[in-house]
Amino acid sequence: MFDADEFRSALSQFATGVTVITTLDEEGQPHSMTANAFSSICLDPPTILVCVAHGTHTHGYVENTGRFGVNILKQQQQELGAYFAKRPEDRTDDVEYHYSESEDGVPVLDDSLVFFRCEVLGSHVYGDHTIYVGAVKELRRNESGAPLMFYDSRWYNPAEE
Ligand SMILES: Cc1cc2nc3c(=O)[nH]c(=O)nc-3n(C[C@H](O)[C@H](O)[C@H](O)COP(=O)(O)O)c2cc1C
Repeated sequence: MFDADEFRSALSQFATGVTVITTLDEEGQPHSMTANAFSSICLDPPTILVCVAHGTHTHGYVENTGRFGVNILKQQQQELGAYFAKRPEDRTDDVEYHYSESEDGVPVLDDSLVFFRCEVLGSHVYGDHTIYVGAVKELRRNESGAPLMFYDSRWYNPAEE
């Protein structure tokens, strides 16, 4: 068998892109969380999934609103990826970012590569996470650029290896 550390370390060998999940808090204000547990499910109908830990604020906000945004980060947004991975009370650094509003008010993180606006179609609780299946209702793209990546528990730029 293997222990939790071995499992975590093995999982870290899967290189991923990095997203920021955007939601609205209880006061209708934008809220963001860095996430790499994102996947496409199918093209028709357009469907994706994200896995959200129960200890996050984002989990409560998605439960309350039934909708969320997925913003795919580009390499230049590494600082933002690190910022939104912190607990809100620790987000004290001076990081610049702006939101736009999507059709139903879900925040769009400006300058990301891609934005998907999603409505929760279904969810599955497993352990301390919920898998949210999202119907993609709106898609926005910016000029293409290199994606931000995460691998081996760190930011990863294949061009620099
Ligand atoms: C690269 C990276 C990927 C992450 N992916 C996820 C994820 O997929 N799901 C999740 O629940 N937390 C993920 N996290 C942790 C959250 O970003 C972190 O717990 C955050 O503080 C939650 O914010 P919130 O409580 O304001 O929602 C990730 C962190 C990093 C650095």
